Amino acid sequence: MNIIVTGGAGFIGSNFVFHMLEKHPDYRIICLDKLTYAGNLSTLKSVMDNPNFRFVKLDICDREGVYKLFEEEHPDMVVNFAAESHVDRSIKDPSVFLQTNIIGTSVLMDACREYGIKRYHQVSTDEVYGDLPLDRPDLFFTETTPIHTSSPYSSSKAGADLLVMAYHRTFGLPVTISRCSNNYGPYHFPEKLIPLMIVNCLHDKPLPVYGEGLNVRDWLYVEDHCRAIDLIIHNGTVGEVYNVGGHNEMKNIDIVKLICHELGKPESLITYVQDRKGHDMRYAIDPTKIHNELGWLPETKFADGIKKTISWYLENREWWEEIISGDYQTYYERMYGQS
Ligand SMILES: NC(=O)c1ccc[n+]([C@@H]2O[C@H](COP(=O)([O-])OP(=O)(O)OC[C@H]3O[C@@H](n4cnc5c(N)ncnc54)[C@H](O)[C@@H]3O)[C@@H](O)[C@H]2O)c1
Repeated sequence: MNIIVTGGAGFIGSNFVFHMLEKHPDYRIICLDKLTYAGNLSTLKSVMDNPNFRFVKLDICDREGVYKLFEEEHPDMVVNFAAESHVDRSIKDPSVFLQTNIIGTSVLMDACREYGIKRYHQVSTDEVYGDLPLDRPDLFFTETTPIHTSSPYSSSKAGADLLVMAYHRTFGLPVTISRCSNNYGPYHFPEKLIPLMIVNCLHDKPLPVYGEGLNVRDWLYVEDHCRAIDLIIHNGTVGEVYNVGGHNEMKNIDIVKLICHELGKPESLITYVQDRKGHDMRYAIDPTKIHNELGWLPETKFADGIKKTISWYLENREWWEEIISGDYQTYYERMYGQS
């Protein structure tokens, strides 16, 4: 089985690459990544010499480059993680989100149509459903919850999802979509909530919390997400959407306090900052479908996952210190001597 994994130098994509190489040692994994600010080739250091792994620096919007890669590799499947993924950045400049998240998805699917494919899998997000009110803890997102986006990021992801379904209906492309809640774990870029708080705590720097920190997210350990996608691409039904989440709802402020506690730092580091524009209040996934159809259940409880994550950041300082200093962006040049 040849699988193209796009965005594999990012947070979830890299964890998925590791998961697939370990669980399916006979598969060939081709990682396609543009190495934007969010992609870090040093993350993939441990698999670079694996004969079943190939890294290709490429933009998913580069039609010619993508078609050439399909000609060379004859992939059986494509799993698309490549995206602009940070909501705050999408509020500052939506255009690159539309380009990568929507146009890039269409280029990948056109290549799948041109060269044939067993499965195109789109990695989407629960953010396409918008948010839920804090005073209705009985409500959850199901796969039939209407798309109702808030940010340019979630709108671009929703646009891609609609396009994926349209390619299935119009061209018969064998697609699946997963919509997952917030992930956490190793290799998470330190601008996102959990790694940012860990890193700032370690530097005794202020911990910026939006608004009053009451926003609720449904956290899932990244390895559980990777297992879910593995199950969907092998056993999921073509044309279907699967929600992925672990019933692990936490208020942002409680997560930040927990991190302070685990690292022995005072809560006085917490500073409340002006809320994000259009900030979604609560996300909560109903994962009944993936549980009933594919037998998926999360394995890592939040209490354990957050400890594992904090330990990882303590043991892998070099990884995030290079990011903070900006040095990681020269890693590709250092490895390959070109840009
Ligand atoms: N992080 C989460 O909590 C979460 C939750 C649900 C869904 N998702 C989705 O999962 C996917 C991966 O998220 P992440 O958090 O790992 O993101 P990330 O920002 O850490 O990684 C994105 C990767 O995509 C690459 N990339 C960006 N533009 C590209 C382009 N034009 N061509 C090729 N590569 C490109 C980047 O270099 C980077 O390696 C995204 O599609 C995101 O929407 C994320």
